[in-house]
Amino acid sequence: TLRSVVRGVGSYLPANRVTNADLAKIVDTSDEWIVQRTGIRARRRAADNEVTSDLATRAAERALESAGLTAADIDLIVLATSTPDNTFPATATTVQANLGMTHGAAFDVQAVCTGFVYGLTIADNFLRSGSAKRALVIGAEIYSRILDWTDRTTCVLFGDGAGAVVLEATMSDGSIQDHGILAARLRSDGRHKSKLLVDGGPSSTGTVGHLRMDGKEVFKLAVGMVPQILSDTLDDVGLPFEAVDWFVPHQANRRIIDATAEKLGLPPHKVVLTVEEHANTSSASIPLALDVAVKDGRIKKGDLVLLEAMGGGFTWGAALIRW
Ligand code: ACO
Repeated sequence: TLRSVVRGVGSYLPANRVTNADLAKIVDTSDEWIVQRTGIRARRRAADNEVTSDLATRAAERALESAGLTAADIDLIVLATSTPDNTFPATATTVQANLGMTHGAAFDVQAVCTGFVYGLTIADNFLRSGSAKRALVIGAEIYSRILDWTDRTTCVLFGDGAGAVVLEATMSDGSIQDHGILAARLRSDGRHKSKLLVDGGPSSTGTVGHLRMDGKEVFKLAVGMVPQILSDTLDDVGLPFEAVDWFVPHQANRRIIDATAEKLGLPPHKVVLTVEEHANTSSASIPLALDVAVKDGRIKKGDLVLLEAMGGGFTWGAALIRW
């Protein structure tokens, strides 16, 4: 059977680092409040002339470089974003052009913070079915453009950035020791729309809109829904939580991550945390965290890596990868 193996990973962060103290000059907040409630100390902010496809292209180039491949080797680009360059075309096709790629197919996926897990799962299905051979899966966001900079309850939580992986269809004997994506699950439930949304769009207001969130409700839903999909994903391949080497969750908030890990019995030293420096970069947070943990030598070939995300929609999902 075919399996999707991770060949490379890369990321890009805008140069401008914004600290909590910087934000305290704009809204009535403090470093102490933000650190205590979220674990966030800083986030990056895109330059005025940077668009999401710029961040995505940089991350994709770095992922290709780490895979020892070029755009000529790729036949599918799946880009997850909630902050596209334009309403259309898809940001993925701009990235395709930036990479000098005129073959293959490219499209965007919209699942808010779960976007990378959705994109990975979609690409995995293309690869396992033989519809594509090698895919770039990218998460890229410029949330600074959809934040209400007068709302202290949301503007302190998010950051800009991009991350990408290269997946390759590879023959496997089907063993759980073999490299690649072992299992993935996606969920959504549209009833929770009002708790987390951007209050604009082409067919409703004709404007871009701003992010609105009921933080307490989101917190409750996140801690409530995520453990089930994680245990279901592990059950799919008959592995226990103890087998997981690295837990790489969507980096929304340190308290959500800690509460989830504790509920599952995953010890803190197995949890990859980047929220302190990146804040919540939505669909970019997981590939950004993967890149950090691969580069610093934590995630090694053969390790079992569990990804998890939840976000607006609501959407949520998990993926289990033998690195
Ligand atoms: N600085 C200072 N004070 C603040 C700030 C701020 N930035 N924001 C809110 N406050 C105040 C509130 O106004 C409130 O004051 P009041 O008691 O006088 O009314 C007080 O702090 C407490 O506010 P709460 O909302 O009750 O604070 P809470 O402990 O719930 O923390 C938080 C808020 C951090 C947003 C929390 O609810 C949370 O983590 N929610 C999950 C949010 C999240 O991670 N969303 C993203 C996930 S999905 C996705 O990634 C898109």
